[in-house]
Amino acid sequence: MQGKIAELRLAALQSVQEAASVQELRDARIRFLGKKGELTQLLRSMGSLSAEERPVFGKMVNEVRDELEAIWDKREAELFRQEEEQRLKAEAIDWTLPGRRPNIGTLHPITLVINEAKRIFTSMGYEVVEGPEVEWDYYNFEALNIPPDHPARDMQDTFFFSEELLLRSQTSSVQIHVMENRQPPIRIIAPGKVYRADADMTHSPMFHQIEGLVIDEGITFADLKGTLQLFIERMFGPDAKARFRPSYFPFTEPSAEVDISCIMCGGSGCRVCKSTGWLEILGCGMVDPRVLRGVGYDPNKVSGFAFGMGVERIAMLRYGINDIRLLFDNDVRFLKQFGR
Ligand code: FA5
Ligand code: MG
Repeated sequence: MQGKIAELRLAALQSVQEAASVQELRDARIRFLGKKGELTQLLRSMGSLSAEERPVFGKMVNEVRDELEAIWDKREAELFRQEEEQRLKAEAIDWTLPGRRPNIGTLHPITLVINEAKRIFTSMGYEVVEGPEVEWDYYNFEALNIPPDHPARDMQDTFFFSEELLLRSQTSSVQIHVMENRQPPIRIIAPGKVYRADADMTHSPMFHQIEGLVIDEGITFADLKGTLQLFIERMFGPDAKARFRPSYFPFTEPSAEVDISCIMCGGSGCRVCKSTGWLEILGCGMVDPRVLRGVGYDPNKVSGFAFGMGVERIAMLRYGINDIRLLFDNDVRFLKQFGR
């Protein structure tokens, strides 16, 4: 019996030495000292011993157990420390490495132009308002002096949901909402999305307009022209070449469109300006008396002007973008080039 205990002790000590990890050490401990371990089994075999031998044997087993437990504890602590050290070394963080820069977004050129226009017009005392993109035919056309079957409807190839409901084709619809709800004096701009079945280098099916509306006593075309000239100078700089060109809109009389000298070709003619040397940025005019009467204003007392500018066209001219579609491709390399 003594021999067996000694043998087992040696075997246990050897497995402590051989264990290369905390896990191996724990497995070995269970094998020798666990509830079903070899030492426990040895104790069980005490039944075959005589009454005198038993306490002696029991004492010996317990002594060996205590000894082995202590050795195991010590070795486990050692191995644990070693493993911990290795792990920390492997996971070490190099604080001196430069950090990865977070990819900070930039404002879209369309947003930049709208923000700039808001700054310019609010500095002149304008208020910024908004209107719905899904609109009644009444606000987009009828109240703007474009009855059903009027040929001017063909000027804007419109997306209809039904006879009465559509995606607005111009922010001029906001003029009517504002005039229905307020009395002059009115001085607002209304930026937003508009929609037309239209697509090429300078036309997009969804694009942005900024509507402007001023109604008060004694407003003249000179006020309109002066306002737009100031805007153009602030938006494009003092050297920008602009021209007013007579035009037609059912809701203004007289009407004009404004062109800016094409920046791609400097005015000599190219694909972007369709060889004209000019790029149209807005339509404008004096609000037609019929429109004023329609919202309950007296055209003998008040008059006003309105304009609707194409934000994408302004962005193209301001930033030298030769294809409107670049604004909607969402290529980060393109978008990163503009402002913060
Ligand atoms: C209008 O939409 C009128 N509502 C403007 C107006 C307002 C006139 C108030 C009088 C009083 P027009 O269809 O020309 O007009 O469009 C105005 C501007 O939007 C154009 O000068 C152009 O700069 C821009 N634009 C028109 N269609 C597109 C398009 N498909 N893609 C990008 N920009 C466009
Ligand atoms: Mg036009």
